[in-house]
Amino acid sequence: MAIPIAARAAEFGTLDTPLLAIALGAGDALPPALAPVDAATLGAIGRALASRDFRGGRDEVLTLAGGAQGIRRVLLVGTGKPTRRTDALRRAATLAARNAARLGTGAIAFYAGPLTAAESEAVTVGLIAGGWRYDDVKTPPPADERRAALAAGTVLAPDLAAAERGVVTGTAIGEGQSLARTLGMMPGNLCTPDFLADTARDIAKRHGLPCTVLGRADMEKEGMGSFLAVAQGTPQDPKLIALEYRKGPKNGKPVVLVGKGLCFDSGGISIKPAASMEWMKYDMCGAAGVLGAMEAIARLGLAVNVVGLVGSTTNMVSATAVKPGDVVKSHLGKYIEIINTDAEGRLVLADVLSYARRYEPTAVIDAATLTGACVIALGHSATAVLGTDRQLVQEVLDAGDRSGERGWELPLWDDYKPLIKSEVADIKNVGGRAAGTITAALFLAEFAEAFPWVHLDIAGTAYSETDLVTIPSGPTGVPVGIFVEFVRGRAS
Ligand code: BES
Ligand code: MN
Ligand code: ZN
Repeated sequence: MAIPIAARAAEFGTLDTPLLAIALGAGDALPPALAPVDAATLGAIGRALASRDFRGGRDEVLTLAGGAQGIRRVLLVGTGKPTRRTDALRRAATLAARNAARLGTGAIAFYAGPLTAAESEAVTVGLIAGGWRYDDVKTPPPADERRAALAAGTVLAPDLAAAERGVVTGTAIGEGQSLARTLGMMPGNLCTPDFLADTARDIAKRHGLPCTVLGRADMEKEGMGSFLAVAQGTPQDPKLIALEYRKGPKNGKPVVLVGKGLCFDSGGISIKPAASMEWMKYDMCGAAGVLGAMEAIARLGLAVNVVGLVGSTTNMVSATAVKPGDVVKSHLGKYIEIINTDAEGRLVLADVLSYARRYEPTAVIDAATLTGACVIALGHSATAVLGTDRQLVQEVLDAGDRSGERGWELPLWDDYKPLIKSEVADIKNVGGRAAGTITAALFLAEFAEAFPWVHLDIAGTAYSETDLVTIPSGPTGVPVGIFVEFVRGRAS
């Protein structure tokens, strides 16, 4: 459910809210503007600071009682000593909204002093992220034990005009991220390739965008032997989804965003171990990122041409499944030896990247939960960024920094190419354990020669197996932010 956010002038005398969150940095004194709030709490804020109960450290929170009317609770949120104020505010707002959802206050007002439009946007994105939850398949507790979901947020700022602009753009991005997280969180039996296609059609309908969906028969006609090799183990119809947003220069060449949409990855005949296999419902987070980004871009109304492509299926074990040693002919024409059926994402993406040529893109960025090796290399804090175009790589890294979804480059040198050389076909789909993220990207590069291209391996960043303070275990919203910031950077 959408969480409406509004901007409001920071006038505390008339503020009526079940929860006022106040962001403070390490060692900050009580800002003079908050004197009325301190009075309303009978000096509790000032005492919390004086007694050092609250010190403003990063992620520190303290809940205080407010009045019977007006400001009914106060939540102090620490931002520490931040290097980037937007990052710190986004994080503090997320944490504040998460606390509001935990308490069941239903609404939250957030104050952090003067805000630029970009800072107000970051706060808005954070409030929506912190209030997000997925409880469609949970029976609600009895009425007297229920905690209200976060249903509204207010950004308080002295400069109302700037704050309002940030709320509008932040809502677009936040709702895009929430969509991606919901798709990610949905179990594999509900979030199917069909469901992703329906979601794309829904985005298309609401924003008036053309949407094309290819099924198995269409892909057979297209000669997508690589994608179809993965899909041959499942009776579900695979989907190649194309969503077009064209508000840029007429006939201008688009940016193409590509997402891996494996609604479940069992590994296929090269089956995965049973432990934690359920996490492989998240193997569609690249696709969710593309759909979430398209939703955000359309809401923002950016003057830019963007095509979102999603390749979706499930990788299953069956008598019809593709076998290790099989050779398939890809959409591009190159023959692929499938050594390991668990390296299926690159097989799907190879044909989607080849399909992207028809748009004559100025840039193609794909996002995929592609390799476990990426998690070993970079952990959960950075998306791996690999590309064939120096400038484009830098542009994507910068977009990641701005959005708070940071990336880190890995090399895509030819030195690694012999690892994926095949004896029987043109290329094989795995290169052994060494440099697994790089060889996967080098495989994709074989199908992305027609345009400047960057690959994002989001295996470590798209979802978290543990509670992350701001984000509960589950999908994070990555790569919606990095996609949107990139596209924004290209808008005229
Ligand atoms: N979806 C997985 C990658 C993955 C692993 C994502 C763990 C998130 C967490 C991908 O399809 C896969 O299975 N990759 C294999 C490649 C290998 C067979 C070369 C892997 O990483 O083990
Ligand atoms: Mn796999
Ligand atoms: Zn996979």
